[in-house]
Amino acid sequence: MTEIIKGSCDATKQLRKLVEMVSVSGSTVLLRGETGCGKDVVARAIHDQSKRKGDLINVNCAAIPSELLESELFGHEKGAFTGADSKREGRFEASNNGTLFLDEIGDMPLSLQAKLLRAIETRKIQRVGGKGEINLDLRLICATHQNIEKKIEEGLFRADLFYRINVFPIEIPTLSERKDDIPELIEHILSEIETSGSKIPLFEDSAISALKEYIWPGNVRELRNVIERSTIIFSNKKINAKNIRENLLKINLPDFKEEKKIIWDMTSELADINEEKENDDSNEISMPHPNHYKKWFEYLDQIDLRRHLGEVEYILIEGALRKSSGSVTEASKSLKINRTTLIEKMKKYSIPKVGND
Ligand SMILES: Nc1ncnc2c1ncn2[C@@H]1O[C@H](COP(=O)(O)OP(=O)(O)O)[C@@H](O)[C@H]1O
Ligand SMILES: [Mg+2]
Repeated sequence: MTEIIKGSCDATKQLRKLVEMVSVSGSTVLLRGETGCGKDVVARAIHDQSKRKGDLINVNCAAIPSELLESELFGHEKGAFTGADSKREGRFEASNNGTLFLDEIGDMPLSLQAKLLRAIETRKIQRVGGKGEINLDLRLICATHQNIEKKIEEGLFRADLFYRINVFPIEIPTLSERKDDIPELIEHILSEIETSGSKIPLFEDSAISALKEYIWPGNVRELRNVIERSTIIFSNKKINAKNIRENLLKINLPDFKEEKKIIWDMTSELADINEEKENDDSNEISMPHPNHYKKWFEYLDQIDLRRHLGEVEYILIEGALRKSSGSVTEASKSLKINRTTLIEKMKKYSIPKVGND
């Protein structure tokens, strides 16, 4: 069977182990975790591994208006209420011999909780407007992103229902807690997108690092959105760290013509400087060595990196232009950048063009 829960960091391995252990039992499972972290994925994995013959029936308790939820869950008889033209089977019945997944159970209206508790305890239901009871054989999985304990204190959730569903709680880690899974998740998501015929982009190593730095409030769902966006904007192209920050986490169209040597590339070079280079005493007059920055955090709490590198860039551009008496072509050569790049940068820093080349 193909693995449903992707990822191989410790937290994910532990999650898979718990899923494997609980699947074979018929116990009620409570999945807890932030939105987008994979509660639906885990519910599917538990059902698939349980080998129960019936279906996995999903009810999103937060999405169904509370007036309709009772009949949605338990079904109704013909004429049970205005509009009930024919009898209807509810989701409890549909999940007979299978698994019932009550998603967002924290949003279950208080008025329905007693009836739900009874159905869970007895594994028997009564359709709305019905008389006889219907026996069911089902596995229950519940999920919530809410703090149910707090809801109990506030009187919005019945404590007895909570104890009934909290048999085997599984806390699903956030994406920030399993950042090492990001490359594997990207590969998985891209392969799904590729089968739908889209041309996928190539994520450079720097792009993966940038994705690992991000905090992911929307978890894997947000990651999926970013990857999907990437196939639209960067179809068949390479993606670097700057693209992640500026074009994918924020949606701005990239300037594909722009020279690759950007401020952020300079920062990664700063990080690569090693001790050996420090002692490499060349006899030419050279630039102040980047290692001089090493001790700055001993004196400062914060360094505005972008601003600082921008200021260095500004000073060097001005210096080069002074040396070339305002010739942009000459100055760009001495800075080893393209003339057009220099013009862009001069615009960015509002440095006036005085030469006539
Ligand atoms: N471990 C995982 N492996 C593969 N895909 C995942 C994983 N976790 C989440 N996803 C994907 O992330 C998205 C959100 O997952 P979902 O289960 O709907 O989250 P939740 O129900 O917690 O809000 C889905 O597209 C799902 O396929
Ligand atoms: Mg969900």
